[in-house]
Amino acid sequence: MEKEEFFSEDVLAGKLYDTTVIKKLLSYVLRYKASGLLSIFMVLITTVLFLLGPYLFGYAIDHGIGKGDKPLIYKIALALLGIQSLRLLLVVVQSYNIQAIGQKVMLDMRMELFNHIQSLPLSFFDKNPVGRIVTRLTNDIAAIGELFSAGVIVVIGDVFIIVGIFVAMFMLNLKLALITLSVVPIIVVITLWFGSRMKNSFREIRRKLARINAYLNENITGMKVIQLFNREKKNYDKFDEINDDYLKEQVKYIRYFAVFQPAINMVSALAIGLVLWYGAVRYMHGALTLGVLVAFLAYVHDLFDPIRDIVEKYNIFQGAMASSERVFGLMKEQPEADYIIPNPAKEVSVKEFKGAIRLENVWFAYNGSDYVLKDISFQIEPGQSAALVGVTGSGKTSIASVLTRLYEIRKGTIWIDQMDIQKMEKIGLRHVIGLVSQDVFLFAGTLRDNITLFNPISDVQVLEIVGSLGLMPFIDRMSGGLDMEIAERGANLSAGERQFISLSRIIIYDPRVIILDEATSSMDPISEVLIQNAIQKVTQNRTSIIIAHRLSTILHCDKIIVLNKGEKVEEGSHEELLRLGGLYSKLYRIYMKEELIGHA
Ligand SMILES: Nc1ncnc2c1ncn2[C@@H]1O[C@H](COP(=O)(O)OP(=O)(O)OP(=O)(O)O)[C@@H](O)[C@H]1O
Ligand SMILES: [Mg+2]
Repeated sequence: MEKEEFFSEDVLAGKLYDTTVIKKLLSYVLRYKASGLLSIFMVLITTVLFLLGPYLFGYAIDHGIGKGDKPLIYKIALALLGIQSLRLLLVVVQSYNIQAIGQKVMLDMRMELFNHIQSLPLSFFDKNPVGRIVTRLTNDIAAIGELFSAGVIVVIGDVFIIVGIFVAMFMLNLKLALITLSVVPIIVVITLWFGSRMKNSFREIRRKLARINAYLNENITGMKVIQLFNREKKNYDKFDEINDDYLKEQVKYIRYFAVFQPAINMVSALAIGLVLWYGAVRYMHGALTLGVLVAFLAYVHDLFDPIRDIVEKYNIFQGAMASSERVFGLMKEQPEADYIIPNPAKEVSVKEFKGAIRLENVWFAYNGSDYVLKDISFQIEPGQSAALVGVTGSGKTSIASVLTRLYEIRKGTIWIDQMDIQKMEKIGLRHVIGLVSQDVFLFAGTLRDNITLFNPISDVQVLEIVGSLGLMPFIDRMSGGLDMEIAERGANLSAGERQFISLSRIIIYDPRVIILDEATSSMDPISEVLIQNAIQKVTQNRTSIIIAHRLSTILHCDKIIVLNKGEKVEEGSHEELLRLGGLYSKLYRIYMKEELIGHA
């Protein structure tokens, strides 16, 4: 599948020890230095307390039971109880503490990433699918969080315990300790063998899961097409196949896991057997006390749990490292060098702004040197309205995009009043220029929220403005008025209703310059007249650019600019252009014919 390679990049990256990634991760943890250090300190203490257990067993046997010292046995029993209780208490506090750090780190990362993503230019979003960006913010950050909730500190504790047990063993009895050490090569071999297989299998699982996600994502988004074109059965079969693949890989992983655990247990049994055998012989020769033997056996018994734990956690580490690398990669993402605007941005004062627009030899490409705007120059006086006309793909929307700096031009200059827009603060620029896009985007929420975009404007004001433009019929038609709940992407609205909302937004936003991209393309004649009148009123005192296929909507414009394949081919008033007899007059004649047929 094509999509697969696309997503496999998400899965295969990531080394276990990448110092730059680890450093970056640490920089987040270090913000919570105090709690972090406290956690490590507590792990140390719990390890020591844990190690005291077997030692006290042995001591009780040799000095209590062996010598018939009842009070000592009581004391040791009490001490064991105390030590256990204290240890468990510390474990509770410590695990709470580390998870809290993990959650805070996740929150920080999510906020930083979100903030960063918001600052990226639109060209970034053209190239990166939504699904992937969302995965960074959710799954990847969750995988990093797992480091804290399931991994890192437990593993640190495990290492402490293993080292501590060996130290205790060597202190108790050198020969027994060396015998225990003799099984270590077997553990290493087993761990390496299973470890590498489990790692590969784990990667495969992630890759196959990514495939399932990609497939689901595409299918759910495209449900309409799937149902209309009866693709259900075929898609079901395909999903069955990739789902089955995933299951098989999971089963394989579980099999490794199932064998690995008993394998380690076997080595554990072997070690215990060896210690018991050799220890018993030594005990019978009087070279060893019973207490030491018991303590030793307890240590050997406790040695293997942490080893198993570390191997099992390996995948969490691997996953977290890969996720970190991708999250940090996204954080590093910068606008391409071409688009970075070096000049310091200047704040604009919206009040003094008159709204003259001038394009001077503007060149623009979305990709490389595929220019979609070629050497465009034109000028619109303050308060004038201009229309952009041209066939589909001629670059009309692109002009709107570069005027609002959704994309940056490659060559030339765009002036607003006397200012180069690249030297203006984007926020200021967008206070001055408002754009009603061709593709209306609505958020889930009420009609009110979608019109005001959460700006503090009262209902009365909203209704007043909408009413003054004669657009009340739209609100009246919607059940619940301003309280109407709008579904995600405006799924419960008609195309015309969506355009009404998008126009209302800009009216409330009240910019000096308005760009309307196809504002009336999906309206019935009555609604169209309402919107037309509203547009007339709105554009009266403002500079405006109107992009429309329906040429009837632009007849009143002061100036018409005709584009063809990214170039300006004609410019003038409606009458002038008709007289010229070029592209515009051709388009107009065809348009009029269609209108007549439509109305006949
Ligand atoms: N985000 C994008 N990335 C790459 N190319 C794009 C992008 N948006 C538009 N284009 C290309 O730029 C050219 C001009 O597109 P534009 O949207 O400006 O046309 P338009 O005149 O608004 O057309 P329409 O009348 O259909 O809305 C087209 O060839 C289009 O394929
Ligand atoms: Mg367009």
